[in-house]
Amino acid sequence: MKPSRISLSYLLLLVVLATCRVSAQLPQVVRGPYLQVVTPTSIVIRWRTDVPTDSRVQFGASRRRLSQAVTGDSLTTEHEITLTGLKPATRYAYAVGPKTGKLPKDVDQFFQTAPAPGSTDFARLWVLGDFGCSSQTQYDVRDQIINATRDHRPDVWVMLGDNTYNVGKDEEYQKHFFAHYQSQFFKNTPFYLTPGNHDYGGQITNLNIPYFKNFTMPTKGEAGGVPSGSESFYSFDYGNVHVVSMDSYGRLSDGKRMYEAGSTQIDWLRRDLAANKQPWTLVFWHHPPYSKGSHDSDTERLMVSIREQMLPILEEYKVDMVLGGHSHVYERTHPLKGHLGKNDTFDPAKHIVSAASPDSPNRYKVGQNGQGIIYVVAGSGGQLGGQSPGYPLKSAVYSNNKEGGSLLIDVKNKWLEVRMIGTSGQVLDQFTIEK
Ligand SMILES: [Fe+2]
Repeated sequence: MKPSRISLSYLLLLVVLATCRVSAQLPQVVRGPYLQVVTPTSIVIRWRTDVPTDSRVQFGASRRRLSQAVTGDSLTTEHEITLTGLKPATRYAYAVGPKTGKLPKDVDQFFQTAPAPGSTDFARLWVLGDFGCSSQTQYDVRDQIINATRDHRPDVWVMLGDNTYNVGKDEEYQKHFFAHYQSQFFKNTPFYLTPGNHDYGGQITNLNIPYFKNFTMPTKGEAGGVPSGSESFYSFDYGNVHVVSMDSYGRLSDGKRMYEAGSTQIDWLRRDLAANKQPWTLVFWHHPPYSKGSHDSDTERLMVSIREQMLPILEEYKVDMVLGGHSHVYERTHPLKGHLGKNDTFDPAKHIVSAASPDSPNRYKVGQNGQGIIYVVAGSGGQLGGQSPGYPLKSAVYSNNKEGGSLLIDVKNKWLEVRMIGTSGQVLDQFTIEK
């Protein structure tokens, strides 16, 4: 029997409806894409979908020429694709999605690989601490960085811990972390981070936290530095800057906290710093050795232990700067050496090394022999305020617990400049180091 016109139309309608239904079920990207472990020749791209799919990243010289692709076969909602064989200091456009079909293109979806190791070209780091809380301060800090970097976007982004509040749950990352930086930063600015006590939810022995699931670290030395074999601590090179990230909170699988004698973190740190060939060395972890902000390094046992046990190692290997958060303020010390006691034991004549000249107090010149370490607390990237008895630190050149902000660190060859950009857009603190 021949099908009637009506039944043919009905069949056509069913096909159209079925197609609509399929397209309505296309997987949606609900997190990211975001960029991890940037190296001169590789990068990790991650994103989350609402339903499990396979994975594909298309990439190339421009949005119109996404000529290469890397795919993943496993069906997952947590997509993680590593691109390799890239050129150093080169910008690529990219698109993400399932293995088949047309991928949506986005003008802001690009990444730039890290410069060749040891490169002396200009590089800009953005350093942000204690931020994921959806406060006005968090939004203003972000927006002022957008304003302040119109000439040169941050090349790499460093997060100092307490990346999300209050207890580091995945939904808190979604709401207070991923929600606020996607369009301007996550899709085009690679970041490295360290965990804080809030990322751990206050449970120092719980390593099964969303922090470790959400982020990818260079554990094999693939970004420079000695392989750590652990996502809790690692290092990377960006041009001629060596950057070390350590976990100042957790009790790791060796049963020890960072500062404890014989910890795997200390053992690795020594090996990593001894092997470092770059002229600049920055170390970051969450709990600062010196603070008189919302946390007190005179009385809080963890901060005291970190100061006493870790600083001699950092001094031995001539680290330039230590970055921390935890205290919801900004504090920047003189270049220090040998100041392991409480705040009131600080003696400028004894503890300040390579002081700046009186006519340019924020210009430091580092000589061949010995240098002090500048300690910066930048814990007001979203949270703000607080002070402890004795505030401000005697060893501090500048402190601010009234206006939030974050740091831009510009490096070019033997010159390094730090600017603290406040929520008003003003540069609240600025200093340079030359070698
Ligand atoms: Fe903290």
